[in-house]
Amino acid sequence: MRFYLTTAIDYVNSRPHLGTAYEKITADVIARYKRLCGIDTHFLMGNDEHSQNVYKRALERGLDPRAYCDRMEQEFRAVWAQLDISFDDFIRTTEPRHRAAVEKLAQRCFDTGDIYEGHYEGWYCVSCEAFKQEKDLVDGKCPLHPTVTPEWIREKNYFFRLSKYRDALLQHFRANPGFLQPDMRRNEMLRLLESGLEDISVSRAGQLWGIPLPFAPDNVVYVWFDALINYAAAVGYATDEGRFAAWWPADLHIVGKDITRFHTVVWPAMLMSAGLAPPAQVFGHGWVNFGGQRMSKSAGTSLDPSEVARRFGPDPLRLYLVKEITYGGDGDFTWERYEERYNADLANNLGNLVSRVAAMADKYRQLRLVPAGDGGRLAQVAGAALARYRASMDGYALHDGAAAAFQLVDASNEFIAETAPWTLAKSPSDAARLDAVLFEVAEALRVAAVLLRPIMPSSSADILRRIGETREASTLRLDLDGRWRPDGVRTIVKGGPLWPRVEETKEIRVDEKPVQPASPVSPAPPAAPAPPPAADARISIDEFMKVELRVAKVLAAEAVPKSKKLLKLTVETGKDQRTIVAGIAEAYQPEQLVGRTVVIVANLQPAKLMGVESNGMVLAGSPDGGLPMLVGFDQEIPPGSRVR
Ligand code: MSP
Repeated sequence: MRFYLTTAIDYVNSRPHLGTAYEKITADVIARYKRLCGIDTHFLMGNDEHSQNVYKRALERGLDPRAYCDRMEQEFRAVWAQLDISFDDFIRTTEPRHRAAVEKLAQRCFDTGDIYEGHYEGWYCVSCEAFKQEKDLVDGKCPLHPTVTPEWIREKNYFFRLSKYRDALLQHFRANPGFLQPDMRRNEMLRLLESGLEDISVSRAGQLWGIPLPFAPDNVVYVWFDALINYAAAVGYATDEGRFAAWWPADLHIVGKDITRFHTVVWPAMLMSAGLAPPAQVFGHGWVNFGGQRMSKSAGTSLDPSEVARRFGPDPLRLYLVKEITYGGDGDFTWERYEERYNADLANNLGNLVSRVAAMADKYRQLRLVPAGDGGRLAQVAGAALARYRASMDGYALHDGAAAAFQLVDASNEFIAETAPWTLAKSPSDAARLDAVLFEVAEALRVAAVLLRPIMPSSSADILRRIGETREASTLRLDLDGRWRPDGVRTIVKGGPLWPRVEETKEIRVDEKPVQPASPVSPAPPAAPAPPPAADARISIDEFMKVELRVAKVLAAEAVPKSKKLLKLTVETGKDQRTIVAGIAEAYQPEQLVGRTVVIVANLQPAKLMGVESNGMVLAGSPDGGLPMLVGFDQEIPPGSRVR
């Protein structure tokens, strides 16, 4: 079974904000859930580069637009890596594969007679990159971008016969009630279709930045007509038809509510015109506001997701966005509410459960828990939580999926309070009951951690490791591992508190700036800040986070001919396989390295060393006058894990 999932591709005139990050996080939760269900999932994200605002921004910075977009790609990738977004492919609309697809699809529509020449005269909002009718404006301004004055444009354009597809679209909506979700968006779109459709302009005249129309190269393709095609381009339309046939149509497009019309009216009509199937489903999520205000780059009211993730790591942010906002509706972020939920859900509830299980296992059973019976009340709660979780996640009620996992966490903490293991431990005749209670609560925590895996990937893996799950987290499957599994002795691993209460973190704030724990899942204990050096050459956490350090596994190694120092390594990075040239030949034999886990800088620009292109760098410590030593880990860690 396959699942092809996409998000909107982002304009790169500024960095991601919490709203755009929300979309990527929720889509990532869906992708990870599908993988947990054993479904072959392809998760696509990307950048939308041919926008006028992107072009202007590049010129303002004195950069060639392409060079500007290259830089922004790195910035976006760094934020997505920081938020643990597990996309399989990242497309940019300036890539040749995308251009080929746009040319082919536009030509097809032209050949079918659906693109014709005409004149456009009217308003254009450059922030929406959309043509606007007088009735769409409020006091002469676009309601979504009140700080931007719409332009009156008059140009020779090519038009797409959208009106021709109105009946087919209506029929498609009616025959496929799930095509657009949630229902309130579907109803909006049905009303729009019922009121009729006008043809749309699909080219812009006199612009340099964009893809020329193949049949009229003096015009560039209108940025939306261009951008929508990314979903087909990424899976091989025009470049690899076999691959395209395997993955198209997309199973799910995740987009914001402001752009559902483009995805459920314009895009399916373009596909129908080109003889291709429409996507199976579109989900239009709501807005995340910041302190009740719409987040807007132009109005300066946006919040940087990196800043939030720095506070407690990516997982508490992911949990907040997924659990606190009904998926499909609007939501709000405030620092107060975020800290409150962090303390309630993580410090007091889940974190406390993890600590109590380890402390009791240590105190009463030398960290060894043995299965006893089929489980009691918690086994039943776990069964009910799993059923609720599955139904919610399958229907994209992600908030309710998170709540189902926490239903089990709550019940486990209550179970500890009621069974009072500390009392059972006092009397030898209760030894068997104590065994059963301890195993039961550890098993409930294991199931909860499996359910939380899509939402809090690294915390879930850490909890599973601590409660003696020996299987690699990425191999877990919901149908087996989401069930009660009293299948063997659990050796509990002790560790520090996962989520110290927020007051503790506040104490180590320096200059009121958020403090990054040593690792998102095992924060360092509070420590006094070091005195600043005389001339402050320190870098900000943002600058550091631009360096993408990742775990990789060496698949092959060989000497670089005519070099004493260099080895050519083929490594698996969790996302790709690549060649890295490392100056470690004097310290390691190639065969010693195969199968070894290393740390790499994953986002270095390629460089040629002795004629071999190196894509990244392997980290090693080099003592003065000594040989380099590879950086490593004291336990198994999967390739692709972020190092920070
Ligand atoms: N480039 C177009 C999409 C083209 S898809 C073929 C675009 N880009 S965007 O950068 O403006 O927005 C990217 C996504 O983020 C969109 O789905 C948009 O709805 C979403 N969001 C933008 N602000 C948001 C919030 N404040 N909250 C939630 N989602 C938000 O549109």
